[in-house]
Amino acid sequence: MRSIALTNQKGGVAKTTTTVNLGACLAHLGKKVLLVDLDPQGNMSSWFGLDIHNLEHSMYNVFLEEVYFEEILTKTCVENLTLAPANVALAGVERILAHEKGRDLILKKRLSSMVGNYDYIMLDCPPSLGLITINALTFAKEVFIPLETKVLALNGLVTLMNTVQVVKERLNHGLEVTGIIACRFDGRTNLSNEVYNQIKERFKEKVFNTIIRENTRLAECPISGKPITLYAPESTGAADYTDLAKEVVERENRFKEIKK
Ligand SMILES: Nc1ncnc2c1ncn2[C@@H]1O[C@H](COP(=O)(O)OP(=O)(O)O)[C@@H](O)[C@H]1O
Ligand SMILES: [Mg+2]
Repeated sequence: MRSIALTNQKGGVAKTTTTVNLGACLAHLGKKVLLVDLDPQGNMSSWFGLDIHNLEHSMYNVFLEEVYFEEILTKTCVENLTLAPANVALAGVERILAHEKGRDLILKKRLSSMVGNYDYIMLDCPPSLGLITINALTFAKEVFIPLETKVLALNGLVTLMNTVQVVKERLNHGLEVTGIIACRFDGRTNLSNEVYNQIKERFKEKVFNTIIRENTRLAECPISGKPITLYAPESTGAADYTDLAKEVVERENRFKEIKK
């Protein structure tokens, strides 16, 4: 089982787009995938057509230990792809649990029973480095960082890498950044190429070879209630996320080597 937090404290860099579509493509490849929505905006939950304002139970209740994690799981339109939804209530968790002892370990405790049931558990993180993201980093073994290649944001990336390092030292020795994903790539601009080259030079094999191109079909996709492979199977977006999923699977062995 691989557990992956998709994190970047910047909003709008394609965390949710990547979690949904990479998750779906891994499921299409026959992997059993659990997607966990950790963003109070609930974008991933809305994407799969849930009425997020009327969720009976969600990640909020899981954090407050009011329900078992199993109780909130929802099937999606993709076989092998399960969703743990969230909504705005989750925003309250940071404040409610702020002074709780062991607050960084809640998700790890609550998800431990799930670990044997899936090949991939993927966590869509909020755009901050607060309590929820720290919980994700404490549970997961891997971090994927989606980057928008339209802006060079190396400072933000360094801050994120430092946070991962602190969590690794204090709470989760096995944690590694195992994938940086170049998203929203516009090959017509020099900037996208320059950003990709700089990231590649600096972070080397951590950067996936697959590049996710800018694609209007991907931007339309959330309101369709489906992942890109079902909404627009012929699009470059579907092709790119399928390639990324294959590369992620190819790296399974390399990841095992790192862990030895
Ligand atoms: N490859 C892409 N091509 C076009 N639009 C994209 C692409 N990836 C993401 N987007 C759009 O960019 C915006 C931010 O993406 P999102 O996944 O919500 O980011 P985050 O979860 O990091 O805030 C959304 O409107 C989304 O539809
Ligand atoms: Mg998001």
